[in-house]
Amino acid sequence: AQVDKGGHKHFMAKEIAEQPTVLTSALNYYLDETGITLPDPGLDFARIERLTMVACGTAYFACLTAKYWFEQLAGIPVEVDVASEFRYREPPIAPGTVALFVSQSGETADTLAALRYCRDKADRIVSVVNVAESSIARESDLPLPILAGAEIGVASTKAFTCQLGVLITLALKAARDKGRIDDTELATHLTALRGLPGLMNIALDQADRTRALARKLAEARDILFLGRGPMYALAHEGALKLKEISYIHAEAYASGELKHGPIALVDKTVPVIVMAPTDALFDKTVSNMQEVMARGGKVLLITDRKGADQAAEGVWNTLILPEVDPLLAPILYAIPAQQLAYFTAVAKGTDVDQPRNLAKSVTVE
Ligand code: G6P
Repeated sequence: AQVDKGGHKHFMAKEIAEQPTVLTSALNYYLDETGITLPDPGLDFARIERLTMVACGTAYFACLTAKYWFEQLAGIPVEVDVASEFRYREPPIAPGTVALFVSQSGETADTLAALRYCRDKADRIVSVVNVAESSIARESDLPLPILAGAEIGVASTKAFTCQLGVLITLALKAARDKGRIDDTELATHLTALRGLPGLMNIALDQADRTRALARKLAEARDILFLGRGPMYALAHEGALKLKEISYIHAEAYASGELKHGPIALVDKTVPVIVMAPTDALFDKTVSNMQEVMARGGKVLLITDRKGADQAAEGVWNTLILPEVDPLLAPILYAIPAQQLAYFTAVAKGTDVDQPRNLAKSVTVE
């Protein structure tokens, strides 16, 4: 069926707005009253010793985020790599490894080649895909659909948050299978997860404020994104979105790594976007943020009300999101990251849905 823009100016705007709805369908597919159910043949993590996750672009940053989840929740060591490196690196695959491939299209040439490399080496081949009839889905032992619906904008948005929704569900299942959490803890996390689309709607309502901030960001030549833990992975996705569609140079850094080099770039012309929900590492991120401000850096702090009350003094601007289970924060904070990129690109007048030099699906090497 022909997909239209549904009254939006761009497919990307439509796809950003759709996220609460499509994430709800993805969660409904995997969750019921009894907990988490995977499609056949299922997957029992009890005997799985490690995970190798491989992808490209935005899907790679979904993997990077999920590494924190699998390691922290389930105690499963995770290796993450971009497919173009992984496939030629001849990485040894130890017994007890699940190889997990994430791809919106399911046709990315490097990701497919990486899957084929793992074919006879890994215990199981699992994929997280949007296009159910794609090559990557067909060649997997367990293809897991993300049910985001057709994504037209070249810059991935709803596929990213649905990938994360499926990956956190999988990480919670792994934690339960490994006996690292009990049924009550699992139920608490699942309740928070079911509440996430509602929080995303609140985040989407910040559009006017985000648009105003983006008009300022559009004047920048370089922008830095900072975060810690899973928010560091999301910082990468925020920087990628901005580069792809606004053509502004953007880089992500782990907050604690800033002082080892990139802080040299900071002056009053470089906006620094700090993604910091009030989680266990909040105070540490704030002290890194203060190092930036001490050097004249122009900080946009994205946090919750509590975080803003504690740390907003001296920042250039804040964006306030609802409080969220820290585990789920990368999914919620994806919304302002996408909106900032989108409105910055609109302010610059670029071709948002068809950015120069990029293709939606890269089926050649
Ligand atoms: C292209 C697209 C990106 C996408 C990447 C991986 O570069 O422009 O938006 O993240 O491919 O695509 P996949 O379909 O494998 O997720």
